[in-house]
Amino acid sequence: MNIPQRAGLANFPPYRQGKAPKGIDGLQAFKLSANENPYPPLPAVLAAVTAAVSSINFYPEMAAEDLTLAVAGRWGVSPDNVAFGAGSVEVAAQIIHAVTNPGDCVMFAWRSFEAYPLLATAAGATPQPIPLAADGGHDLAAMAAAVTPRTRAIFICNPNNPTGTVVGAAEVETFLRAVPTDVVVVLDEAYVHFNRDPGTAVGIEMFRKYPNVVVLHTFSKAYGLAGLRLGYAIGAPGLVTNLRKVAVPFGVTALAQQAGLASLEAEDELQARIDLLVAERRRLYAALLAAGLPVLPSEANFLWLNTGEHTAALAALFEENALSVRAFADEGIRITVGTPEANNRVLDVARQAAGLLAPLP
Ligand SMILES: Cc1ncc(COP(=O)(O)O)c(C=O)c1O
Repeated sequence: MNIPQRAGLANFPPYRQGKAPKGIDGLQAFKLSANENPYPPLPAVLAAVTAAVSSINFYPEMAAEDLTLAVAGRWGVSPDNVAFGAGSVEVAAQIIHAVTNPGDCVMFAWRSFEAYPLLATAAGATPQPIPLAADGGHDLAAMAAAVTPRTRAIFICNPNNPTGTVVGAAEVETFLRAVPTDVVVVLDEAYVHFNRDPGTAVGIEMFRKYPNVVVLHTFSKAYGLAGLRLGYAIGAPGLVTNLRKVAVPFGVTALAQQAGLASLEAEDELQARIDLLVAERRRLYAALLAAGLPVLPSEANFLWLNTGEHTAALAALFEENALSVRAFADEGIRITVGTPEANNRVLDVARQAAGLLAPLP
């Protein structure tokens, strides 16, 4: 069979999902490779999903009216500012499809969320990666300087996946003043709920001041709904209209819509879990640092180890201890903050691992 395929797909890597942990006798396995929430859904969320299950013979309501009103109300914006997708990754794809013509550029820092270059390429656009600064944060000055007339969208991941760094409000404002106002600047805030840095850029505030800003939020991380696929953009009405046009029809299920509504009503309860994860992140960071590991400060629900050439050896050690982490060959390891039990195991392994690493400079 020789079916003609789109040029370039042979060299196009598929999205790499966070691995499941290896089963090891006598050890509870923990998945720390996908920045998921380790806690089960809240009872009210489960009840809402269960109630919606009996209607799955019907298509979902594509306009997601109730959820649109709830999200618009949550942020004090108009319903015309809100577009949904099957996870914020689908909304990111919608943005690229809506604003690029073939060959236009989509800029992002690198390394950042692995889907950005894949979504750009899949849409027929050209990825425009700009190296992170030495501290693992965005180099916004280099990004501003690299904008060309072909650059149509810029993703700023705040906090950045996988380094956990944040961009400051003043830096982002300087950046937004330097970038042409017809370029869409996406503030991807998938991990915003874990961010405790008072100086950070806040997407919704930037959107209120700069209409070319689009804020991307997800229910997958802090809200713990990764398996249901629900995310949204807040942006200018003209863009939002087009996001809805390029969305996959019926991509957001009724179950996801009900779970999203119930989650917004249970924000206080969710906050307690988020606070727990932030406290665990701080404990893990301090202990990893004390163990001599090259860990970066993080404002997300994960930590980045700059393990360089030792990455494979260290990743193997985690795997042998029934922990799956995200390893980027010869660069580093991203570890999702889990339950206290999972984090204690991370620390046990880290203490063993410290001997594998060359002494820190
Ligand atoms: C920075 C960032 N943005 C977006 C997403 C997509 O999340 P989802 O599609 O589950 O909403 C992720 C997932 O890991 C992410 O790390």
